[in-house]
Amino acid sequence: MRLELPRHAERFGANIIHDIQKVYELDAGNVIDQQFSDPFHVVQQVSAEQLHEVESQMAIIIPVKNERLRLLEGILYGIPHYCLPIIVSNSSRNEIDRFRLEQNVVENYCRFAKKNYLLVHQKDPVLALAFEKAGYPHMHDEAGLLRNGKAEGMLLGIALARAMGKKYVGFIDADNYFPGGVFEYVRIYSATMAKAGSDYAMTRILWHSKPKIVDDQLFFAKYGRVSRITNNYLNLFASQHTGFETSILKTGNAGEHALSMPLALELDYSAGFSVETYHFINMFEKFGGILPCPCPDVMKSGVHIYQVESRNPHLHEAKGDEHLHEMIEYSLAVIYHSPLCMPALKQEILEELHRQKILELGQEPLRPRIYPSLKTIDWNIFSGHLDFSDISNVQHTFIQN
Ligand code: GDP
Ligand code: CO
Repeated sequence: MRLELPRHAERFGANIIHDIQKVYELDAGNVIDQQFSDPFHVVQQVSAEQLHEVESQMAIIIPVKNERLRLLEGILYGIPHYCLPIIVSNSSRNEIDRFRLEQNVVENYCRFAKKNYLLVHQKDPVLALAFEKAGYPHMHDEAGLLRNGKAEGMLLGIALARAMGKKYVGFIDADNYFPGGVFEYVRIYSATMAKAGSDYAMTRILWHSKPKIVDDQLFFAKYGRVSRITNNYLNLFASQHTGFETSILKTGNAGEHALSMPLALELDYSAGFSVETYHFINMFEKFGGILPCPCPDVMKSGVHIYQVESRNPHLHEAKGDEHLHEMIEYSLAVIYHSPLCMPALKQEILEELHRQKILELGQEPLRPRIYPSLKTIDWNIFSGHLDFSDISNVQHTFIQN
């Protein structure tokens, strides 16, 4: 793959946020062209070997809840062979057992492609027990099972990837229509992780465009309504602390993102759909140098955040206005409730939520639940409760209640 070098970056404490990088070539061949090592060259080459090296240590976590089976299957087609897909389903199991249908699709596909995978259901009591015994009771609901929510599914996926010894995790939503787009996202993850400037790294995808039908014509929108709002307030949030206006944050709602395992285990996570925006907030809080930092290692190494623009357009399921409102409220809520958010910005957020007809004047945004970092988990105990010790020799493994 050929990727634009990260040229411009802004620093917030130990966080180094790189401006958008473009993809120049989806496949750059196998021979390293030395010209690309020239410090004045603006594009870098990542060889197939380097990509495969990272991919063999990367889990791709696919959160899924009642999505069309064809879409879920399509995702699998797009994931490079060496990556381990971890499908975390929270699909309904009532009249129609959708999870069973997902299992059929995944099992069939992976048998023919000779691909390892892990498929779990978020409500599997075995998983809840493993978290509880390993010292992480934070995600349990009243019934003692793991809570609903995309973030909760993601955390479960990270823990499973860690238990499998993976060094990187990447996320791909299950409602993507283009397997080719999925393939590109994963390649972007592995290319940036191969070249990352520190053990603590995150890559976030900026979609090239999102096709829509407007007046019977295809229209390729650049930013969605939610991202426009989230990014604006994230940038204001960052600016208020440096005193310099910025527009560097362009991926506040990037569902498509990847993390190195050390960073994934260091972060706290916010529930539901606020999880991606909260990454930034949490990194500002933890590594921004304003609040006391509990992690000197990270402060020393620095955290590199890459934002990469894909070439493929992004087409996923349209989920309606209510979902957009929920996304806006959750995204702005985590900015609003941060101890670093200044009163003037809080006021602006309240006005925005009022303008969007999400809150009445005088109402405060909800306070999403925050899950502490996963690093306190006792991994021996966690793995001891799950029977997937030798997935590298097994074609398909599956935990089920
Ligand atoms: P958007 O694309 O950010 O607007 O949000 P989506 O509604 O498409 O959700 C993103 C992904 O998370 C999709 O693949 C959903 O199926 C999945 N998802 C949503 N809720 C849950 C949940 O409670 N648990 C799990 N595991 N996945 C979920
Ligand atoms: Co979606």
